[in-house]
Amino acid sequence: MNDSLHDFIRGLPKAELHLHIEGSLEPELMFALAQRNGVTLPYASVEEVRAAYAFSDLQSFLDLYYAGAAVLQTEQDFYELTMAYARLAMADNVRHVELFFDPQTHTVRGIAIDTVFSGIARALRQARAEYGLSSRMILCFLRHLSEDEAFATLDAALPLRAKYADLWIGVGLDSGEVGNPPEKFERVFARVRELGLHVVAHAGEEGPPAYVSAALDVLKVERIDHGVRAEEDAALMQYLAQSQIPLTVCPLSNLKLRVVKALGDHNLARLLRAGLCVTVNSDDPAYFGGYMNSNFIAIADALQLSREELVQLARNSFNAAFVPMSQKLIWFDELDAYQATAAAADESR
Ligand code: HPA
Ligand code: ZN
Repeated sequence: MNDSLHDFIRGLPKAELHLHIEGSLEPELMFALAQRNGVTLPYASVEEVRAAYAFSDLQSFLDLYYAGAAVLQTEQDFYELTMAYARLAMADNVRHVELFFDPQTHTVRGIAIDTVFSGIARALRQARAEYGLSSRMILCFLRHLSEDEAFATLDAALPLRAKYADLWIGVGLDSGEVGNPPEKFERVFARVRELGLHVVAHAGEEGPPAYVSAALDVLKVERIDHGVRAEEDAALMQYLAQSQIPLTVCPLSNLKLRVVKALGDHNLARLLRAGLCVTVNSDDPAYFGGYMNSNFIAIADALQLSREELVQLARNSFNAAFVPMSQKLIWFDELDAYQATAAAADESR
């Protein structure tokens, strides 16, 4: 059933704008790196790891996600992690990725911040050269830590800016949302904006719509990561539609972390039909059961999205990317050609 729509989704050119690279750590690689680095994991097998991925909320996931990330120690580890993601993204017809990384998860363990940057960047540069995958990096501050710690992370990263100028273009905010509102990071985000870096923040995943409003008004973010709870505030919905501030929505993540009980309850279609710039993303695909195409297919089936809506989601993803308009126009043309070819194929059937 729906084979032709699934094929249409698989071939659709798309951009991924909400992907935590540490969340693409598959259990097989986690085990291999644990062995290589002499790290003891609290699991006996890959199957046991997968069985542990039954989450009740965001924090229950974060506990395992930060524990898993402890196997990442060398530049080569970050390179292999990122290369594995790049290959899967290419297979899903992802043309462009803006990936999140969490330096604080690694620097607290004594890993140098340049080790993190270098391994990720080496893979992204190779993926660009070998596969034509376009990419950028967004450094995230962990919001359960203090603003001073975010400032220290920014200070540690800034000397690397020239070395990674082709990739590092922005800063985000992730980790446990409730109790860590955007206001906590007002000063550091002001500094980041002064530096000419792009700014985004997770908001309205588990937190209330007021957190989305604060991310916009106080942090002055250019995109909202998740943002699904914005629907509870009519004025905010109107603002998001009018401003076209993008939401990077992650359907399988929302299901696994119980933001929604079932994908059929997900508000992605309502947000899209209300005229918001909604995009589909995978968040932490190794933990939530699927990469980009799995997210697209699952939500398309659950909400009966039309081909036109799927193309709109892909168009939104390119439009919301932090790349020059000249590049967006190339992707829009590719999308138009893809849609036209699919329509012609239908008519000749
Ligand atoms: N929310 C907040 N922090 C995160 C997430 C998320 O979905 N994934 C990785 N860190
Ligand atoms: Zn996220």
